[in-house]
Amino acid sequence: MKTMLISVINGPNLNMLGEREPQVYGSETLDDINSALGRAARDRGVDVEFFQSNSEGSLIDRLHECSRRSDGVILNAGAYTHYSIAIRDAIAAIRPPVVEVHLSNVHAREEFRRVSVIAPACVGQISGFGSTSYLLALEALVRIYEERS
Ligand code: DQA
Repeated sequence: MKTMLISVINGPNLNMLGEREPQVYGSETLDDINSALGRAARDRGVDVEFFQSNSEGSLIDRLHECSRRSDGVILNAGAYTHYSIAIRDAIAAIRPPVVEVHLSNVHAREEFRRVSVIAPACVGQISGFGSTSYLLALEALVRIYEERS
């Protein structure tokens, strides 16, 4: 059987984790988070790949590429979550399930962060568990894959 491939996509400003508002986003860097995801994926026998971009078009291009290749996508779209209809449409256009993740609890912050325009196109949303949000998303995608195959 083909090994499951999970794509992890991070949007704007997430390359700044570790130094960016640590009181909100914690002290771990994106590399730290990706390393933990890599270990969790290995333990589950799945492959994982990583991508980060600060630009909307590059995120959309990457989502399109995932359509053929990936079996699940973990997406932290950063601030694009709250207003990018183009990213929502890209999620709706592709084959694999997409889990929306956030480090912070977006529902406990400013009013504008409570709105996710991408949520209706995603299989689910995980928000507020710091880097654990990504690990929970990985777990959810593995379960979906196992149920479908
Ligand atoms: C975030 C929450 C967004 O509102 C914010 O714009 C981010 C990070 C999170 O992971 O908590 O850049 O997606």
